[in-house]
Amino acid sequence: MNEQIHIMYSEQEVDARIAELGRQISEDFKGEEILAVGILRGGAFFCTELTKRITVPVILDFIEASSYGSGTQSSGTVRITKDLIEDIEGKNVIVVEDIIDSGRTLNLLLENLKQRKPKSLKLCTLLDKPDRRVVEVPVDYNGFQIPDQFVVGYGMDYAQRYRNLPYIGVVEME
Ligand code: IMP
Ligand code: MG
Repeated sequence: MNEQIHIMYSEQEVDARIAELGRQISEDFKGEEILAVGILRGGAFFCTELTKRITVPVILDFIEASSYGSGTQSSGTVRITKDLIEDIEGKNVIVVEDIIDSGRTLNLLLENLKQRKPKSLKLCTLLDKPDRRVVEVPVDYNGFQIPDQFVVGYGMDYAQRYRNLPYIGVVEME
């Protein structure tokens, strides 16, 4: 099967929105330091672009996780496949994700991070697909709210391809 990519948000549109988010976060954390936690692999592109636009001091780290279990909040577990290098206790942590879909992985990951006693814990996502939510996730900063469509680019993949596209596209099968 062959797929075609249609642009949903151009490189310029994504850049402009990320700049706005960077300004907002810099304002909210004036006089403080941020520890940005990018979620691998998809959140890596957004995380580096976002932190370039943050004007308060930033420490950068990454984590990779996958979730197991029935997917409900109580019975699911998160497996950390690559852990943070930094100790987040007492830090202002902002988790940076590419897209929130069911919310399962992120919900469990946030619980895990909370136990490490950060000073504050916020969530920033480039895209949010609220129609698909199964588990409640508190989104503090959101780039774009999108309908239930499969998107690629800016870190997001289809079978590991297209992560490197500088725009956000919708995958259509031909
Ligand atoms: P969740 O736990 O269901 O919220 O999973 C979210 C993860 O699924 C994201 O971090 C992405 O890796 C992946 N994902 C969800 N929707 C899409 C999409 O439209 N394109 C690419 N990846 C997606
Ligand atoms: Mg992801």
